[in-house]
Amino acid sequence: MSDNYIQNLFAERIGGKNYGKSTAIYKFEKIKRARLAAVAANPGIEILDLGIGEPDEMAFPEVVAKLHAEANKPENRFYADNRDDVLKQAAARYLEKVCGVKGIDPETEVLHSIGSKAALSILPAAFINPGDYVIMTTPGYPVFGTHAKYYGGLVYNLPLTEANHYLPDLESIPTDVLQKAKVLVLNYPNNPTGASATVEFYTKVVEWAKKNRIVVLSDCAYAALVFEGKPLSFLAVPGAKDVGIELHSTSKSFNMTGWRCGFVAGNALLVKAYGDVKDNTDSGQFLAIQHAAAYCFDHPEITEKIAGKYSRRMDSLVEVLKASGFNAKKPKGSFFLYVKAPKAAVKKDGARVEFKSAEDISQWLITEKLISTVPWDDIGAYLRFSVTFNAKDAADEKRVLAELAKRLSDVKFEF
Ligand SMILES: Cc1ncc(COP(=O)(O)O)c(C=O)c1O
Repeated sequence: MSDNYIQNLFAERIGGKNYGKSTAIYKFEKIKRARLAAVAANPGIEILDLGIGEPDEMAFPEVVAKLHAEANKPENRFYADNRDDVLKQAAARYLEKVCGVKGIDPETEVLHSIGSKAALSILPAAFINPGDYVIMTTPGYPVFGTHAKYYGGLVYNLPLTEANHYLPDLESIPTDVLQKAKVLVLNYPNNPTGASATVEFYTKVVEWAKKNRIVVLSDCAYAALVFEGKPLSFLAVPGAKDVGIELHSTSKSFNMTGWRCGFVAGNALLVKAYGDVKDNTDSGQFLAIQHAAAYCFDHPEITEKIAGKYSRRMDSLVEVLKASGFNAKKPKGSFFLYVKAPKAAVKKDGARVEFKSAEDISQWLITEKLISTVPWDDIGAYLRFSVTFNAKDAADEKRVLAELAKRLSDVKFEF
């Protein structure tokens, strides 16, 4: 047998010599397995998938047509790198028209991204030396923190609680963390809580960042998916450009998760540093995709239509969950409904099941009711329901939500 020297070569950041040997099963893998088992045990019965974090529809036909036309242009075939200005200009127009952010210079203050995940994964290279702190809100999207740790950085988890409307308490950060902190990552509308930020909060963040000399990264992956009022950008607050950048993406706002395109905008020096790291990481997104993305940012009415659909679905979902005892409140944006997880379910026949965690109830919902959700046990036990479930049209949505109500009708939840 040959000597398996490869096993001894892995870096500590992915487990070193023990890479691949852990038997721990992570949350999403557990959900996937429970779902497969539920499908196998109940052939032909529809899974109500409220766990998905991706739009159920494809990109709008005019965007696909734009991609087709742009893909046919020979001049678009080259490495894009960071040169092309079509998306940069559309991004600046979008920020002004949709978010009221004036004065973004497309040449120096915007660069495209191959999706926000790609940007969040390379940005730590620009800031993080070993021992530096990143302040991340939790529960949340961990990518920036994961890569910061790859560079020897440390993550301080700032809790998002219902009592604080899921806005972090910046004053609660210990002084020794603040002294070593370089970056604060924010995400509103928020995954998973569905919460939105306020102008007052962002104003406080700008003051706090200046006082503590910290860079703010505002991850706006769900931007413009709002159910009331106008989308709120961090950059719309006076002084924000002095302290930070914002990440926008076509993934959720334009049903384009697989297309991989967005932009980073804000402070010119931060954008330049992002560009330098990016130049050493990728060769830019295909120009045809960038140009189709630019078309999207010039057509925000697409997002308005998508948000309208989610808003309609959210209204019905809130009603269905309230009828089962959940304390469900419609969020102001995103496609997530975040509710406290019940401690027990009592069936009409008196049978009672207790849940120790959100993961427990999530497993029970998929196994017993074929309802898929995402559990969050980071700060209290919560379930995330997403209104991106599969439904062909408004009538089909009604059918899915009526089916959800029916499946929950023989239980009362206790909290
Ligand atoms: C908060 C947050 N940021 C970023 C992303 C990634 O977005 P993109 O598809 O643009 O990489 C997601 C995707 O789920 C997300 O929830």
